[in-house]
Amino acid sequence: MFADRVLSGMRPTGGLHLGHYHGVLKNWVKMQQEFECLFFVADWHALTTHYDTPQVIEQNVWDMVIDWLAAGVDPAQATLFIQSRVPEHAELHLLLSMITPLGWLERVPTYKDQQERLSEKDLSTYGFLGYPLLQSADILIYRSTQVPVGEDQVPHIEFTREIARRFNHIYGREAGFEEKAEAAVKRLGSKKAKLYTSLRTRFQEQGDSEALESAKSLLDEQQSLSMGDRERLFGYLEGGGKMILSEPMPMLTAASRMPGLDGQKMSKSYNNTISLREDEASVAKKIRTMPTDPARVRRSDPGTPEKCPVWQLHQVYSNTDIRQWVQQGCTTAGIGCIECKQPVIDAVLEEQKPMHERAQQYLDDPTLVRNIIADGCEKARKLAGETMRDVREAMGLSYS
Ligand code: TRP
Ligand code: SF4
Repeated sequence: MFADRVLSGMRPTGGLHLGHYHGVLKNWVKMQQEFECLFFVADWHALTTHYDTPQVIEQNVWDMVIDWLAAGVDPAQATLFIQSRVPEHAELHLLLSMITPLGWLERVPTYKDQQERLSEKDLSTYGFLGYPLLQSADILIYRSTQVPVGEDQVPHIEFTREIARRFNHIYGREAGFEEKAEAAVKRLGSKKAKLYTSLRTRFQEQGDSEALESAKSLLDEQQSLSMGDRERLFGYLEGGGKMILSEPMPMLTAASRMPGLDGQKMSKSYNNTISLREDEASVAKKIRTMPTDPARVRRSDPGTPEKCPVWQLHQVYSNTDIRQWVQQGCTTAGIGCIECKQPVIDAVLEEQKPMHERAQQYLDDPTLVRNIIADGCEKARKLAGETMRDVREAMGLSYS
């Protein structure tokens, strides 16, 4: 029941660049081979900040999906879909809003930060305050176990865990839960029942999280448990009731800070990006005109790679031989900056070549992309529907 399921989303707020590739997409491509993965376009989330420019969404959505495909995200391995085409997200968001304390939303650090950072926009809206809750709905509706995100999003995952816990606490109580749970423990057989009970005690009395993990894997291994007993036993481990929504874990990817053309982090707001599918001439031109160590005014002036943004790109793209050549050549004025940049240009173009190739078929035939997304949305709706059945029932909405 709790097999790993990875979910992640991206807002369609502009074309993707190599920072997204190195920071996020490379990781998605790797994970799709290891886990069940769902990747989606968070177009409603884009509207929370860009509600006044809805005309940009459409183009950004399709460009972004093509960028994903170009980067190697494989629709045969991962499910790709668009948030607004799975309206169940909105329903869960609404239902969760009933139990979400305002203070929890106001305390999410991104709320005030973003309002300040985007002060030219009026973000004192209901939708913007609810951003993290909509994200919780995205995550919980698939019973996702892992959510790959950047550092800045960790508070949203924490918030999601708290919402799931609160939901289970309020709605996960069934009449006679304790008795039913104890009966389920017995059905594990005496040896496993004893083990389960002692692990549960260790967790509940000493907060021993290793014991909790062991108990969970013990349950994972029990093939013959009924669905109901399984839910009860998981719920009973951590507290009161049935676990209707499961708590996700953030999955932090090794911090890969992709340097931009000026040495700062690559980011649209610094205007220092190379886009994922930038054409070759433009890539070459951007790198050729990059600033270098200001000490190298003339070709004969030696420089210090550590003071040069090009060196940072060598660290991403070049092997040790080339890096040694740079160190040696720069510090002795043995090479010029144009020469030094060439291997970086070559490596970026090499990296982008398969991306251009993959993208081309989708640019030639946009219906391919539409079909991939239509399939993905259908799969997502089916999964979302399963969770919603349980949620509606728990919240007293399944009456006839
Ligand atoms: N808030 C995320 C971001 O800005 C995008 C997002 C929306 C998301 N829903 C999500 C990410 C669910 C992970 C899971 O990057
Ligand atoms: Fe930078 Fe290379 Fe020029 Fe040195 S030689 S300043 S590392 S571009």
